[in-house]
Amino acid sequence: MITIVVAMGLDNEIGADNQLLWHLPKDLKYFKETTTNHPIIMGRKTYESIGKPLPNRTNIVVSKRKDWFEEGILIVGSVKEAIKFAKKIDEEIFIIGGGNIYEQTMDLCDKLQVTLVKTNLKADVFFPKISMKIWNKTEEICYEKDEKNEFDFCFQTYERKEAL
Ligand SMILES: NC(=O)c1ccc[n+]([C@@H]2O[C@H](COP(=O)([O-])OP(=O)(O)OC[C@H]3O[C@@H](n4cnc5c(N)ncnc54)[C@H](OP(=O)(O)O)[C@@H]3O)[C@@H](O)[C@H]2O)c1
Repeated sequence: MITIVVAMGLDNEIGADNQLLWHLPKDLKYFKETTTNHPIIMGRKTYESIGKPLPNRTNIVVSKRKDWFEEGILIVGSVKEAIKFAKKIDEEIFIIGGGNIYEQTMDLCDKLQVTLVKTNLKADVFFPKISMKIWNKTEEICYEKDEKNEFDFCFQTYERKEAL
């Protein structure tokens, strides 16, 4: 099972200046619970934006850079290689971004775990359009903003139609 995990705004915006667009501790907690103990695959820019390996998960970072080494992460030269490695570790693999990696893996994954953030913000990276011809929304749980979470948001699950 390959699952994409993403938090996006109403216009599919996901990032600006190599940063996330919002502060939603509830979403970060959900992300941690979802991905802990499973391999996570990310692009080099997303890794740099996080700044360190995420604990209790095999961090697989895709990059074309040569002679790059960092403690605590596995660096691979292609998305295909990343998936090959991840499959050796676990049956559940999570793709955690960013935009570039999502575009290349959307057709390869079985499930989308989307946090839809109910806002429109200026961004320079976007998630691909989720086609209702291909995906079925199978779950949705919504929360209202509060003192710690600055926007209303919904946790949504999409599954591939032919897989149902
Ligand atoms: N809202 C969310 O859920 C979420 C999640 C993750 C990230 N983000 C945001 O997304 C933004 C970053 O996304 P991005 O699209 O700019 O970058 P990205 O997808 O994180 O990383 C792109 C980099 O990955 C490497 N790469 C991609 N495809 C490759 C391939 N086929 N073979 C080898 N290397 C490959 C390249 O690294 P090299 O240049 O080193 O070769 C490329 O520059 C940030 O703003 C971040 O905060 C948002």
